[in-house]
Amino acid sequence: MNWAVATYDSAFGYVSAHGAPLIDLLDPQQGERVIDLGCGTGTFSAEIAARGATVLGIDGSREMIAQAASIHPSLSFAVGDAHDFTVAEPYDAVASNAALHWMTRDPDAVIAQAHAALRPGGRFIAEMGGAGNCAELITAMQTAWRVFGLAEPELPWYFPTPAEYATRLEEGGFTVRLLEFFDRPTRMSEGPNGAADWVRLFAPEALADVPPEIAEPLLDRINVLAAPALRRESGWVADYVRLRFAAIRKPNGSGPLLEPGSAVAETSWPGGAPTAALDPI
Ligand SMILES: C[S@@+](CC[C@H](N)C(=O)[O-])C[C@H]1O[C@@H](n2cnc3c(N)ncnc32)[C@H](O)[C@@H]1O
Repeated sequence: MNWAVATYDSAFGYVSAHGAPLIDLLDPQQGERVIDLGCGTGTFSAEIAARGATVLGIDGSREMIAQAASIHPSLSFAVGDAHDFTVAEPYDAVASNAALHWMTRDPDAVIAQAHAALRPGGRFIAEMGGAGNCAELITAMQTAWRVFGLAEPELPWYFPTPAEYATRLEEGGFTVRLLEFFDRPTRMSEGPNGAADWVRLFAPEALADVPPEIAEPLLDRINVLAAPALRRESGWVADYVRLRFAAIRKPNGSGPLLEPGSAVAETSWPGGAPTAALDPI
């Protein structure tokens, strides 16, 4: 996924702004060590640091990390895949805002990595898209693709039900202490072209497969299709559904059951610093 980093904060800052309640669930303490997984441009990482914790922001996108490092020069960031990172010293918490649903390759591997990065009793606190997230937007996309005679777009998200994700967490060695699943209609404050802008920003790879001469009419059609459900007099509202959880890493000996041969990758961060595998910036 290539992110439109320059417009990410300005046009769709609401993705970050809605992380606000999550910080209270995380409740970072002075001196704690916290990983912000899928940190993007580092807005949530900065909130964590502002509470006195030491934060390491990890993101799979080099561009996001470069932006995060330039906006927050005093914080630590590293490029790394959430499916595939290790740390030399255990952390007190792994936090993640609006990112786990982008990590589609193997959700269990992401949970296993969070588990491996935590001390026993450490917390895994996150908010992500849940089942039904953006259903109107996605239906409008799929319908428009069909109307223009195109094969259905491949969608880059994983939106689990609460039961499914809780099971994964428990099987991954966590005790689930809180799990919330709720609608969060979200104003697309600075995306004037509504659903079309949303698709441009969040599904550029699906759009890249569309013949260029069809792209604009297809986006117009998405707006027409999505408008009855999502357009208000005051502007466009995205039909977000969120899953938010707080889970505690069980004591040693009750970790995730890995299949033979599925051990996590062997990168390490000597002295707590990211290694070349994580490409520190
Ligand atoms: C919607 S953004 C959220 C960013 C940030 N947490 C925020 O609240 O604004 C999702 C982020 O997840 C990152 N991401 C997606 N897949 C990833 C992966 N496998 N490993 C690490 N980061 C990933 C993306 O690069 C992107 O920065």
